Amino acid sequence: MAQEILIAPSVLSANFARLGAECDDVLLAGADMIHLDVMDNHYVPNLTVGPMVCQALRDHGVTAPIDVHLMVEPVDATIEAFAAAGASFISIHPEATRHLDRSLQLIRDLGCKAGLVLNPGTPVSVARQVLSRLDLLLIMSVNPGFGGQAFIPYSLDKLREARALIDDSGLAIRLEVDGGVKVHNISDVARAGADTFVVGSAIFNAPDYQEVIGRLRESAQQV
Ligand code: DX5
Ligand code: ZN
Repeated sequence: MAQEILIAPSVLSANFARLGAECDDVLLAGADMIHLDVMDNHYVPNLTVGPMVCQALRDHGVTAPIDVHLMVEPVDATIEAFAAAGASFISIHPEATRHLDRSLQLIRDLGCKAGLVLNPGTPVSVARQVLSRLDLLLIMSVNPGFGGQAFIPYSLDKLREARALIDDSGLAIRLEVDGGVKVHNISDVARAGADTFVVGSAIFNAPDYQEVIGRLRESAQQV
């Protein structure tokens, strides 16, 4: 069964010149956690932020979970740096590590929750072997690297497949979706089995964060 719904704004679409205030604002507006996209201009063709920014958000006073999405290759040293910088969840791509099981164990050994991220072209079956190492399975519904892309429709089939895999396992693994999630499609995404929703541009481009987060949660819950 899906767990309680979590809305995780991706600060990739926030105003980076006032990042602390943007996090405060979305959390006050009802968001459950902050999604931090870490890109290295190598695994993905874009460059964002490192562990100093995660630490800065903690120092600023963000106490909500920080959901760190690592699009970085190789990944192990960056896992250590983000665990030390206050990450709550750390999610990694299987293509970005030579030893997936070892990297996932490292995340939990450092006291964080471990996530596995599947790109649109990566089959759900990749998760099967390592399910017992996971707290979260993230289905990318766009190709990683940029905010504001369109939701890839076949992601709904992947979410259904991932939901069945998690339910059959009996494990308490969150099913997260990332990319192109909006007010108009979040109910389809929730119906396909997601319980954790990364939303970037649809929140930060909206004039009223509380209104859009409320509408997202309401639509996701109506399933
Ligand atoms: C893409 C990132 C996403 C992205 C989501 O690589 O992982 O978190 O920022 O943004 P939207 O919701 O605008 O697709
Ligand atoms: Zn992300």
